[in-house]
Amino acid sequence: MTKLSVNINKIATIRNARGGVSPSVLDAAISCQRFGADGITIHPRPDERHITRKDVHDIKPIIITEYNIEGYPSVDFIKMVIDVKPEQVTLVPDGPNVITSCAGWDTIKFQGYLKDIITEFKENGIRTSIFVDPNLEMIEGAKLCGTDRIELYTEDYATQYSTNKEKAIFPYVLCAKKATELGLGINAGHDLSLENLAYFAKEIPNLAEVSIGHALISDALYLGLENTIQMYKRLL
Ligand code: PXP
Repeated sequence: MTKLSVNINKIATIRNARGGVSPSVLDAAISCQRFGADGITIHPRPDERHITRKDVHDIKPIIITEYNIEGYPSVDFIKMVIDVKPEQVTLVPDGPNVITSCAGWDTIKFQGYLKDIITEFKENGIRTSIFVDPNLEMIEGAKLCGTDRIELYTEDYATQYSTNKEKAIFPYVLCAKKATELGLGINAGHDLSLENLAYFAKEIPNLAEVSIGHALISDALYLGLENTIQMYKRLL
């Protein structure tokens, strides 16, 4: 079954709005796992606008599922991830000023660069995933980078879902088949929601994990966190 990793960045966004400690990201991570999440994802950014460096370290000991740290592999990020040793690191090509991840890696242009970084994480026993657009060439390039998994960037799917879901899913199915053929694990994320998740999970073969933040935390405001996590789990 596909694992649900809950991205708790938004809990930190609310906390930071008042500069205090509430709501606690640690309590959120503990609760998400108790309510059925199969993992916790965070995406620390250099400006610490949501998850801080301290959060990255503090969350580690309360993880009883899987810890996934996403981010741009700056020297600082690489050092922090190797110190913390999560189960998985997901590399994204974001610049420091973007609001949220907005593109996958060019796995051909950055092959040598990614290969060195991936090797370093793997030598430290950390599973690697790299964020990619649904493009066959990028999947083949990802394999050559030595990554364990890819994370398919699902914004295009989510945007097109309501107008033509068959067309929206098509490139993702091709890429998932190619990834499986190449022996790559498949994760997915960005803009997945209660509306579009079930179809994605049904159509994508061998989907190991989805990481979901914005929609899930927004739904939880109305439906409650426990209920919301259970609803997402049922769609998988
Ligand atoms: N995957 C990556 C690489 C991301 O940067 C994000 C957002 O932090 C997500 C998945 C989750 O996206 P969303 O918050 O839209 O569910």
